[in-house]
Amino acid sequence: MKILVTGGAGFIGSNFIFYMLKEHPEDSIICLDALTYAGNLSTLKPVLDDPRFRFVKADICDREKVYDLFESEKPDYVVHFAAESHVDRSIDDPGIFVKTNVLGTQVLIDACVKYGIKRFHHVSTDEVYGDLPLDRPDMFFVETLPLKASSPYSASKASSDLLVMSYHRTFGLDATLSRCSNNYGPYQFPEKMIPLMIANAMADKPLPVYGEGINVRDWLYVEDHCRAIDLILRKGRSGEVYNIGGHNEMRNIDIVKLICAELGKPESLITFVKDRKGHDMRYAIDPAKIHNELGWLPQTMFRDGIKKTIRWYLDNRSWWEEIVNGDYKEYYQKMYGNR
Ligand code: NAD
Ligand code: TYD
Repeated sequence: MKILVTGGAGFIGSNFIFYMLKEHPEDSIICLDALTYAGNLSTLKPVLDDPRFRFVKADICDREKVYDLFESEKPDYVVHFAAESHVDRSIDDPGIFVKTNVLGTQVLIDACVKYGIKRFHHVSTDEVYGDLPLDRPDMFFVETLPLKASSPYSASKASSDLLVMSYHRTFGLDATLSRCSNNYGPYQFPEKMIPLMIANAMADKPLPVYGEGINVRDWLYVEDHCRAIDLILRKGRSGEVYNIGGHNEMRNIDIVKLICAELGKPESLITFVKDRKGHDMRYAIDPAKIHNELGWLPQTMFRDGIKKTIRWYLDNRSWWEEIVNGDYKEYYQKMYGNR
């Protein structure tokens, strides 16, 4: 089958492309990506010469280009990762989140309806459910919860979720949707917590923990996410939402301490800084549906995944050093300079 992957030059999209080309030699992939600050063509270097792969630089908001691509390539499946994905940036400048995540998604699903495809898979996030209290470990996100987004990022993702499901009902679009917990692993842009802390610790720079560091996230190794999407794409039921997560809840401060220990760096690098506005307290996925229906379970536990991830950043310094020495410097100064 021919799969159009949007946002494939980013963190999860690139890992998904590698996963699919390895697991399904019979498939071909077209990657559509605008190469924003978060997209990196060099990440895709290992597959750029693969005859089963083609890269197209385009913005998902560009209707004409998107329609041209559908007309010429006639993809069977679309897996939609392309998005503005960082909560802190959405607090700083919400507009681009609405444009890319909502309007861009609309262009794509319009194209899917117009040209006809077998399935559109929308990659969403558990953040659309809002957050859970720290003192209720018995509570989890289930697919039937109402959406209650806290940040402009999660609100834009929730809007796109609703739009996709409305196209399923109104226009008969074959669509599946997944809401995953926080991912970590190779090729994650160093603005996100885990790679930011690894990169700073390696350079003996302060480790900026927001608030008291007691916020909890449910971490999933990126390859487990990719496997779940592949399963939903092939075997999931149209019109259904699947939560993806693996009961790997961790407090931020404990992760940062773990990174210090793994890298042999002192905890004195940890600096508590002003909290994020509207900071969600706890995310925790109930993955019963995807487990019961599709047999999915995470294969990488956090203690192993974090070691593999740190090893990857140690072995691939040039990948992230190029980023942190570029425009990222300005971003870092703006976000952390007076925090
Ligand atoms: P990322 O920021 O690393 O990558 C986003 C990619 O999308 C980049 O390659 C970028 O160039 C591209 N892009 C952005 N705007 C575009 C546009 N207008 N047109 C075409 N391409 C564009 O993001 P990520 O962490 O890989 O997340 C991918 C998807 O997974 C997002 O939809 C995100 O909401 C979702 N998600 C992420 C996580 C996580 O922990 N990172 C968890 C759950 C869900
Ligand atoms: P992040 O990786 O931005 O993911 P999300 O906000 O989508 O969950 O942040 C993960 C957690 O780490 C979140 O609670 C905010 C916190 N955090 C810090 O404490 N310091 C930082 O510099 C960053 C980027 C995040």
